[in-house]
Amino acid sequence: METISKPVSAKQDFLPLLGTDYVEFYVGNAKQAAHFYRSVFGFQPLAYAGPETGMKNKVSYVLRQNKITFVFTASLIPDSEVAEHVHRHGDGVKVLALGVQDAFDAHEQTTRRGGKSCLAPKVLSDNHGEIRISGIHTYGDVVHHFVERKNYRGNFMPGFVAWKPEGKFNEVGLLHVDHCVGNVGWNEMNPWVKFYEDVLGFTNILSFDDKDISTEYSALMSKVMSNGNGFVKFPINEPAEGKKKSQVEEYLDYYKSPGVQHVAIATSNIIDTVTKLRDNGLDFLMVPTTYYDDLESRVGKIDEDIKTLGKLGILVDRDNEGYLLQIFSKPVEDRPTLFYEIIQRKGARSFGKGNFKALFEALEREQALRGNL
Ligand code: FE2
Repeated sequence: METISKPVSAKQDFLPLLGTDYVEFYVGNAKQAAHFYRSVFGFQPLAYAGPETGMKNKVSYVLRQNKITFVFTASLIPDSEVAEHVHRHGDGVKVLALGVQDAFDAHEQTTRRGGKSCLAPKVLSDNHGEIRISGIHTYGDVVHHFVERKNYRGNFMPGFVAWKPEGKFNEVGLLHVDHCVGNVGWNEMNPWVKFYEDVLGFTNILSFDDKDISTEYSALMSKVMSNGNGFVKFPINEPAEGKKKSQVEEYLDYYKSPGVQHVAIATSNIIDTVTKLRDNGLDFLMVPTTYYDDLESRVGKIDEDIKTLGKLGILVDRDNEGYLLQIFSKPVEDRPTLFYEIIQRKGARSFGKGNFKALFEALEREQALRGNL
């Protein structure tokens, strides 16, 4: 059974976080990416910035569903930070922005502890008030922005205008970001664990070694980092030796650096959410139907109908606090890099260790199809 450690108390927390403020993706074509996230994931259009709003060389589309804000940014010129990022990595996560009470203090606290600044603290203002923002680098080319919006009443940020495109797509019940997983290279997990401990004051609440996460062929290791109030959780994966190539290694081969592997999004009705996502055309990893044969003996009584879970491919795991239901999409880019997890927690605070084997075998079947196992 997974044992979860206690994060630090509020009193000692030098970087109190309000949660994930937004996730920004650098993509090749932001207009089309935004449409995909509207039509498949049910995100609602919120804001836009581009040449029309004074942002000359790039465009950003902002989408929202409940507490989740996604920003899709593309370059309009060949030589820019965004264009170079897309050239090297393909589409991927650039910014994991965290909500803070004081963005200047967050920068001071983290850089004093060894964090490398990527954005000096600054104030952005318009007639809706002001946002204070700063940022530091983390693994690969990913950065954390600290966003303070307590004195802002606009819908996203200064520099953006309301975006009201044609077409209407319904929400699918995505509520908030549950966790964001980073893949790092060989022997890099522990240094990044130390980075989150030292620089951001996170705690390692859970660890999985290569014996927990291995199949006949491949393996990985993972440590889950949590901030003090548990609102922000960043598991860090590293590949491990196996008979064949680790899925983390395949990610690194394609992404060309450490980066975000998956974003897990919470729902309060996974059957309804996954039914809608499937109908909208999202591809999920499927485990063999035998997974469901002995499900009840493994996880005990659950509220959901097992036949329905089996039809949708939803997995179940239990810890000493309750159970969780989860499912993983296939990668949503051309390269086998970023994918999504949909998760419903019914008491459980863990990450589905009981499902790792079935899941990774499903992943390896996909990896083998690409000739990378
Ligand atoms: Fe996950």
